[in-house]
Amino acid sequence: MVKNKKKRIGILTAGGDCPGLNAAIRGVGKTAIVKYGMEVIGLTSGFSGLINKEYVPLDERQLSGILTLGGTILGTSREKPYKRGGELDVDKPALIKQHYDELGLDAVVCIGGNGTMKTAALLSKEGLNVIGLPKTIDNDVWGTDVTFGFDSALWIATDAIDRLHTTANSHSRVMVIELMGHDAGWLTLYAGMAGGGDVILIPEIDYDMKVVNKYLNSRVEKKKSYSIVVVAEGINRPKEISAATYIAEQIEAGTGIETRKTILGYIQRGGSPSPMDRILATRFGASAVDLIAKDLYGKMVIKKGEKIGSVDLSKVAGKTRLVPINHAMVEKARGLDICLGNRK
Ligand code: F6P
Repeated sequence: MVKNKKKRIGILTAGGDCPGLNAAIRGVGKTAIVKYGMEVIGLTSGFSGLINKEYVPLDERQLSGILTLGGTILGTSREKPYKRGGELDVDKPALIKQHYDELGLDAVVCIGGNGTMKTAALLSKEGLNVIGLPKTIDNDVWGTDVTFGFDSALWIATDAIDRLHTTANSHSRVMVIELMGHDAGWLTLYAGMAGGGDVILIPEIDYDMKVVNKYLNSRVEKKKSYSIVVVAEGINRPKEISAATYIAEQIEAGTGIETRKTILGYIQRGGSPSPMDRILATRFGASAVDLIAKDLYGKMVIKKGEKIGSVDLSKVAGKTRLVPINHAMVEKARGLDICLGNRK
């Protein structure tokens, strides 16, 4: 009987970083080494690691002590190997396939968001054994209830909003805070709710400044001395100006209330992952290797309810999970008299 060859797998982290990437790398690596006796290498800087054949061997020693670390020990990049153009006429997908073979890889775990899943699906179509793990603070990957990184960012954003309450109150001001999320409003909706935002503006819901300003004036009439406006970076606005700057200007001009803006920025992506993200990333990582052990490829690991499962990467590619305008949280927010910008 031929003894099964020890599998050799690669891990890469691509796209914008987020808390929980190292927890996922550890989950993949430890499960592969300890549970299945596989060999693991870390490909550096996202898909660039495969294009340039740059990697580091990962053993249990490198995987120790990284669970709580923010960022990614492998580095990341927004390299899109299938994007046409650029200075050099290099067939990047061909290089990736060549290096995948030269490195003796049996599978690659691609940890990333929507862009990464799109590339992963294309590589899978070309015959590479690929598994995707969804991460992003935006929580906008189709097919999963949640991505890791989101919960940590939610904590950070909520803490920031909490802090704005006290300074807004002292000065009787309107405070506008802009949160990340790309084209999706998940982070803004959740942090806005958790932080007691009075106005929450998300890309999925068209807003009218007349409605927002009328609402803010009505709060003054009700002797509410200050207001908190939480806006997503992706809301409709003139492209040359940030969402917070635009909304703050519109509020001050339309109401005369002294208004200040805060753009929270990359703080939302930094630092140690929350306990929930550590757990989710670890479960995702371990489940990716369970799929590889069964020779199941071309899949993205997902969470649905309490269960971890998988969907075909080909179904995920090219989609974005946006907040449905009739989402339960949206309905509840309206019931609490939170202004979503389009109140009747
Ligand atoms: O997708 C994650 C994210 O942080 C978005 O929320 C944000 O729009 C974008 O990345 C910022 O990207 P970059 O790191 O390229 O500036």
